[in-house]
Amino acid sequence: MEIDFAAWLGLALRWFHLITGIAWIGSSFYFIWLDNSQTPPADKADKAAGVTGELWAVHGGGFYHKKKYAVAPAHMPEDLHWFKWEAYFTWISGFLLLSLVYYYGASVYLIDRAKMDIDPLEATLIGLGFIVGGWVFYDTLCKTAIGKNNRVFGCIWFAALTAAAYALNHIFSGRGAYIHVGAIIGTVMAANVFMVIIPNQKKVVAALLAGEKPSPQLGIKAKQRSVHNNYMTLPVLLVMISNHYPMLFGNADNWLILAGLSASVWPIRQFFILHHKGKTNYWYPIVGVAGFIGVMLFASAGTQPVAATDKVSAAEVRAIIRTHCSACHSDMPTHTGIFAAPAGVMFDKMWEVRKYAAQIREQAVAHDTMPLGNETGMTAEERRKLGAGLAAAEEKKE
Ligand code: HEC
Repeated sequence: MEIDFAAWLGLALRWFHLITGIAWIGSSFYFIWLDNSQTPPADKADKAAGVTGELWAVHGGGFYHKKKYAVAPAHMPEDLHWFKWEAYFTWISGFLLLSLVYYYGASVYLIDRAKMDIDPLEATLIGLGFIVGGWVFYDTLCKTAIGKNNRVFGCIWFAALTAAAYALNHIFSGRGAYIHVGAIIGTVMAANVFMVIIPNQKKVVAALLAGEKPSPQLGIKAKQRSVHNNYMTLPVLLVMISNHYPMLFGNADNWLILAGLSASVWPIRQFFILHHKGKTNYWYPIVGVAGFIGVMLFASAGTQPVAATDKVSAAEVRAIIRTHCSACHSDMPTHTGIFAAPAGVMFDKMWEVRKYAAQIREQAVAHDTMPLGNETGMTAEERRKLGAGLAAAEEKKE
């Protein structure tokens, strides 16, 4: 028996990360919606008790009546629920997953020798440097006068992240660069909860229990971070699913594509926020979808379908695949650290090659995201030949 511990650990961490991430973002979306959808309290007694908004909802067979006390209730309830473990565990599981896949597996997933010839330790230190540096930059910027103006702050932070994506793409593989942009944003979001939002809420509660008036600054600072987190959510989710799409991270201008998609999702988020406040404006989603289509056209510009040719034989296609793919994509992989065909994809037989033709084209012809890290030094000429040979093999089949 041979147990692929890395794969099982990876599965457990990814599953855990997904669950905690849903719990975190789900509760965060819920509270934003709750905040934006409240109406002034109907009951005079509520108003007198400091209730600033209320909302009725029905869910799962019961009715809910939520009341918001903008500052605090007159008496602290015995049992007060906090929302923080969702954020902490999302970060912890994400960091462990990053360490396992991209740092422990740096030579396969993170390093691209054609871009920068570094060893796994150097790559790990650079990656961690970007994550810590991202938080220090962000936190410092929040505390300056710029932090008071959400729009200006948003533009500068967006530009800084785009610059980081550009720099990372010149150091790491495309997917390594993308995941680090996601790790910077995710770290900032979790650190906002851990370092600012929760400590400030604790100070407010302590002040109330001591019968003092809490400083309004505590609430203002927490609110600033909470607003930022709201807008960072959708881009971070995009990064987390991006490694399924070589058309994003495999593009030479992948940093621009990431910036473009992140910008195009902003009006969509804005639409929902305004909609819940009762201000519906359909121009926002129209602009968002137009932006998405614009990015699609930009990413596809200059790409050509590879024409079939008789000049590349099936034997040549097999030889290219044997040289550049079969160490991993085989029933019996020989590459160190690969115990089973990655993603279940194997190319031992010609019918398997044909079956995966579209995916092979996406990974190794249209983009150079396979072989991972281009360890075998696959050339542009071989990619072109592989594309032409695959097209010919498909035509013959029909
Ligand atoms: C060093 C090992 C390695 C080599 C060599 C390699 N691959 Fe992969 N390949 C992987 C891994 C690992 C994955 C799974 C990636 C993931 O987790 O997203 C994968 C996934 C894939 C997929 C599936 C992507 C999907 O849709 O999920 C295709 C198709 C693919 N590789 C094609 C190729 C081709 C074509 C070559 C040769 C030109 C090649 N690979 C060489 C490791 C390798």
